[in-house]
This record gives sequence, structure tokens and C-alpha cells, in this order.
Amino acid sequence: MTATTLSFSNFKGGVGKTSTTALVAYNLQKLGHKVLIIDFDAQANITSLMLKTKSVNDEIITIDKALMKAINEDSPLEELVIQIKENLDLIPNAVDFSMYPRYLERNFDSEIDRVSYFKNKIGGLRDKYDYILIDVPPTLSLLNDTAFFACDQIIVVLQTQERSLSGAEVFIRYLQETLIDEFHSNVDILGILPVLSKKGARVDAEILKAASEEFGVENIFENKISLMERIKRFDMTGISDDPKDQHDNRVHAVFEGVSKEIIARLEEGSE
Ligand SMILES: Nc1ncnc2c1ncn2[C@@H]1O[C@H](COP(=O)(O)OP(=O)(O)OP(=O)(O)O)[C@@H](O)[C@H]1O
Ligand SMILES: [Mg+2]
Repeated sequence: MTATTLSFSNFKGGVGKTSTTALVAYNLQKLGHKVLIIDFDAQANITSLMLKTKSVNDEIITIDKALMKAINEDSPLEELVIQIKENLDLIPNAVDFSMYPRYLERNFDSEIDRVSYFKNKIGGLRDKYDYILIDVPPTLSLLNDTAFFACDQIIVVLQTQERSLSGAEVFIRYLQETLIDEFHSNVDILGILPVLSKKGARVDAEILKAASEEFGVENIFENKISLMERIKRFDMTGISDDPKDQHDNRVHAVFEGVSKEIIARLEEGSE
């Protein structure tokens, strides 16, 4: 097997990148795939969400080694892997990851060596998973460039509220001009995934229409993510999945749809 490496991104903060990454990973696993989440954010939001998901009876799970340590020690990333559940693994992050850009600058002279560092670093993991999902912070930076360079596909998360459309445009142009034109990355944009606002159908419909005109209707995901209070609760409780709970069922139905569409789009792209 060779993993498809993906990232949900946008340089805008708080648009749902981390929740979406976690719930897609969770549902890809439920669909029978082997999935690894890599936390690439010093805020460590997905680390905390997934450790809560793993935890039973509210025990607190602590980690003694996060991503920056393996980088500093030049040790294999395999050593960091934490199993969340069967076929769903995590490489955790921690606040010391803020040193990562400095590490790259100190250890590599050329820009291309810096940008391609992480792709080489995860090389050995690719034959162990079907999907590797990298959760990135909301920046355009060397740090994220190294994550995007390691990706096969990027899914642009678009929050359907005013101004976010231009954010997505800027982000896509950045990927094209920096990663693809300058560094000759093979990364592709799999599509634009709308996260609907709660402001009501009218604003969402207008932004979706504008997005279809701007990016092409075929590039917008058919499955859209609605705002669900249950997802906010997961930040505290971890991901719950009780088949008797209608709120859990609703969340997982939405993300199962998104996961299936990702698989279908990848298959289409490889034909
Ligand atoms: N579909 C959703 N419905 C309701 N709440 C959501 C949804 N997606 C995310 N949230 C909530 O919105 C907040 C921000 O989400 P999240 O952390 O996933 O965004 P982010 O883009 O990763 O943020 P950052 O840019 O800081 O990394 C969180 O409290 C999360 O629980
Ligand atoms: Mg995040």
C-alpha cells in the first residue's frame, strides 16, 4: 500500500480544519481504511482531540515524545505513533514545534532542501497506511510549505461567509505559485469543501454560487459540512459515536459522505 497524503487547509484560522481532519480520519477508518493523523500544529488541537477520543473513563493520557523531539533527535517518526483505535493512529504535536522553522533554517542551506524535508521524513510511513492526514496551522509559511510539499492532495476548506472566498483564492494562488511553480511539487487540489455558516441559507447559497463561478462547479464538493453543536462538544469529550445518539449519528453521516466523496475524487483523478 502507498498512502495518499492529504491536508485540509486554508490560511484562515478557526474555519474547521482540525475538526474536519479528525472526523474524516475517523470515518475513513470506519469505512475500512488504515489512517494516520499527523499533528503539524504547535497548538496541538488534534492531538488533544484524539487523545480524548482514545481515553476511556476520562483517564488523562500524557505523551512523552512529540513531533519536534523526533525531528531534533533525527529518529524515525514510527516511534511517535499512538494508536487511537484499531487502524487509526496519531503522531502528536506539542508547543515545542514552534522551533521547527529554526531547525530547518539551521540544518539546510537551500530552500528546496528545507521545503522537501518533511516529505522525506514521512517516507517510511507511506507504505503502512491508506491515508495520511496532516493537520496544519492557519498560516502561509515555511512550516506549512513543508507539510503541503509532503501532500498528494490538498482540500481547501471554505467557510461560506463573507470574505472567505477571496481567502480561498489567495490560498490557491499561493499553492500554485509557490509550491507548484517554484518548488515543482506534485501536489494537487482535490477540491473545495464548504463549511456552511449559521447565518442562514441565503448567504451560504450566494457564496456557493460565487465559488462555483470562480472555481468551477466540479471543483466544489457535493457534500457540505453544516454547523453541528455536537462537533463543538467533541473538543471537550473526544469524538463520540453512539449509534443510539441521533446527534452523533448526524455528525458521522455527514463525514462519511465527505470521506466517500474524497475516495471517489481520488479514484477519478487516477483514471
Ligand atoms: N462543522 C462544525 N460545526 C460546529 N462547530 C464546528 C464545526 N467545525 C468546527 N467547529 C468548531 O469551531 C471551532 C474551530 O474549529 P477548528 O479548531 O476545527 O478550526 P481550525 O480551522 O482548525 O482552527 P485553527 O485555524 O485555529 O487551527 C472549534 O471549537 C470546533 O469545535
Ligand atoms: Mg486547527
